[in-house]
Amino acid sequence: MDEALSGLIIPRHIAIIMDGNGRWAQQRGLPRLQGHFEGRKATRRVVEACVEFGVEVLSVYAFSAENWRRPAEEVQGLLTLMESALQEELADLCGNNVRLIPTGRLGELPESLQRVLEKARQETASNSGLTLNLLVNYGGRAEIVDAARSFARRVQAGWAAPDDLNEEVLRQYLYAPDLPDPDLVIRPGGEQRLSNFLLWQTSYSELLVMDVLWPDFGREHLLAAIIEFNRRERRFGGVADTESD
Ligand code: IPE
Ligand code: IPE
Ligand code: MG
Repeated sequence: MDEALSGLIIPRHIAIIMDGNGRWAQQRGLPRLQGHFEGRKATRRVVEACVEFGVEVLSVYAFSAENWRRPAEEVQGLLTLMESALQEELADLCGNNVRLIPTGRLGELPESLQRVLEKARQETASNSGLTLNLLVNYGGRAEIVDAARSFARRVQAGWAAPDDLNEEVLRQYLYAPDLPDPDLVIRPGGEQRLSNFLLWQTSYSELLVMDVLWPDFGREHLLAAIIEFNRRERRFGGVADTESD
């Protein structure tokens, strides 16, 4: 174990908006897709670091519901890359005791990718180490709409009343209701926005924008983020601990 880690609180749930692949490639005069290839390696490094650090849940934003707006060639390249990466990494994910759960509007994805996602979900379902929440065709607003629709259907069927809805009930209809909310959201690439990422779940997450581009991200950046997290004071609307007595 790294000495830098001793005494640190490890966030239970770290969520990452994996951004900057395109710029990484552009800076080198390479096609954007090359940036995504390199980004995949960063994802692998970060999964391994989370396993090492004992993080419980890692959420990674791999493809947003809005990313369909990109040129067809990039969309196709990204989805194909995801499919082959999952196939290639599955054995190592199992070896690392990682449980993968894909979240998003999966039914709108190419069927071959849906099959690979489902296979990865099933084959890692009983793993008890890191939970890897892979957000694919994910949109925060779409998730809330989907949850509202599911609840509305229960009301229509006579199994619930409108006033039964509260925050805890709505949470049960989200894509991955059993995961704790992210403690720390990291956005590499420097953009200071959420881009429709986990809107419900991040209401009290600590946000950290980092200047490194995703393909350059590694264990040391994750460690720096955890150290920064340890400097934060989370108040959840209350007052600082030292002021409350
Ligand atoms: C993030 O990198 C990967 C996805 C959105 C799938 P980008 O492709 O957005 O990279 P930049 O932001 O253009 O540099
Ligand atoms: C967010 O990055 C989506 C993913 C990382 C998958 P984008 O690059 O799509 O976000 P915007 O368009 O800059 O807001
Ligand atoms: Mg981007």
